Amino acid sequence: MRGGRIGYILLAQMPTPQETTGAIARTYIKDLKDHIGQEVQIKGWVDVRRDQGKMIFFDFRDVSGKVQGVILPNTKNASGVSAHEVGSKVRSEWVVAVKGKVNQRPERAIQKDKQNGNIELEILEMTVLNEAETPPFDISGDGKEIGEDVRLKYRYIDLRRERMQKNVINRHKALQYISQFYTGEGFFEIETPNMTKSTPEGSRDFIVPSRLDQGKFYALPQSPQQYKQLLMASGFERYFQIARCFRDEDTRGDRQPEFTQVDIEMSFVVQEDVMAVNEKLLIGLVKELYPEKKIQQLPFPRFSYKEVMEKYGNDKPDIRTDKNDPSLLAFCWVIDFPFFEKIDSDSSGQAGWTFTHNPFSATKPEFIPDLLAKKNIGDIMAAQYDIVLNGYEIGGGGIRNHTPEALKKVFEIMGYATERIEKNFGHMLKALASGTPPHGGLAFGFDRLMMLLQNEPNIREVIPFAKTGEGKDLMMDSPSEVSLDQLRELGIKLSK
Ligand code: AMO
Repeated sequence: MRGGRIGYILLAQMPTPQETTGAIARTYIKDLKDHIGQEVQIKGWVDVRRDQGKMIFFDFRDVSGKVQGVILPNTKNASGVSAHEVGSKVRSEWVVAVKGKVNQRPERAIQKDKQNGNIELEILEMTVLNEAETPPFDISGDGKEIGEDVRLKYRYIDLRRERMQKNVINRHKALQYISQFYTGEGFFEIETPNMTKSTPEGSRDFIVPSRLDQGKFYALPQSPQQYKQLLMASGFERYFQIARCFRDEDTRGDRQPEFTQVDIEMSFVVQEDVMAVNEKLLIGLVKELYPEKKIQQLPFPRFSYKEVMEKYGNDKPDIRTDKNDPSLLAFCWVIDFPFFEKIDSDSSGQAGWTFTHNPFSATKPEFIPDLLAKKNIGDIMAAQYDIVLNGYEIGGGGIRNHTPEALKKVFEIMGYATERIEKNFGHMLKALASGTPPHGGLAFGFDRLMMLLQNEPNIREVIPFAKTGEGKDLMMDSPSEVSLDQLRELGIKLSK
């Protein structure tokens, strides 16, 4: 992993593009400081234009940053076209190529805290590459004062603002760190299907109708849980994936119908092993990409479910000692969850048990006899762990049942009939009976993690194309109606 900080500073490491299409190669704005006294060409957007009559000032912007430019009076290009003429026509968000000379600013005009505050581009020639309609909102600020619906509708413009560029680029940096970290720890990145079968993750599925097998449906995965366990049956031993997950639940600040998990699974491990490698990941990620942040306590403190419920009244405690400090990261683990929870009555009106986390979890080793005997059900503890950061559950996982007998017992306790167990989970039971090693894993909610690292108030700010609270994509206008022909092909009739 290359060292460096997040933000525009990181872009300093970006390779300079080898563009030779123009007479002069393009220079990234971040590199202008290395070209003082030279003629260069930049390409980008007009961020701001200030016409002062004789002189016109601009802020130009590209992916690497901003710089001020100025058109001095009587500047003409080689064919005699006045730079002033072009410059007085262009507006904010127009896309331009600018040739100019990089000048050192006089001492009194230096803006110390600003990128390129010590230089100014003396514009010699300006070419318009594309015009722009007047933007629907201002992108120069952080955008927090602008209605979110309009920001989401014109997201491609909203993403131009510096705050959103940082969020998206830092998301990339974090993903890169994570991939390299797990690869270094012997994990393989393996993709799993998005068109799959309904899994009981505790939420509602999004379903996709089959044309070739009318009346049948795929489900979009709520997580790759079953596939990653099957990969352990296949002998890959250490898996990770940046996995898109889909859950049809009410959207909130920390929930989207479509979100990203950093998903892992490991063979021949116990709970400690999974917790250790993932704690190492988080510490390394913060150190490398957010060195200005402080982790409150190392190693991460651990609380039992019982403890946090008694002490904090919830299972995702915010244990920060100073809640006003935006650079404080208070991680903790919550462990020792009860496996089963009593439900008064399900849809069939029957009382019974349901899982608290994940039906595939194993019990803590000392509770295996009780599980197999279906005894003391309410006291059985799961080998399950959650990771919490500043009051948000940013991940969770568990050691799994790797014997078919134990998994079957879980479904029996939940009152599933043998036929239903076979129909829904036959493949899992068969896989566990085929020589599956002991295994366990975890998944981080990557959007939540990025939200907290970027000090954002909700996950929509770190998801490039987020959906609204009602699950709508306002930019694409989705969900939308489909044609009657499409429905006919699928054998679907809508009831009005
Ligand atoms: P779980 O359901 O706890 O576990 O999900 C793991 C993490 O994903 C995040 N998360 C969400 N983030 C945004 N929007 C959502 N709708 C949403 N739902 C969940 C949370 C959560 O901690 N297969 C298991 C993991 C495992 O056992 O390995 C699973 O999906 O941060």
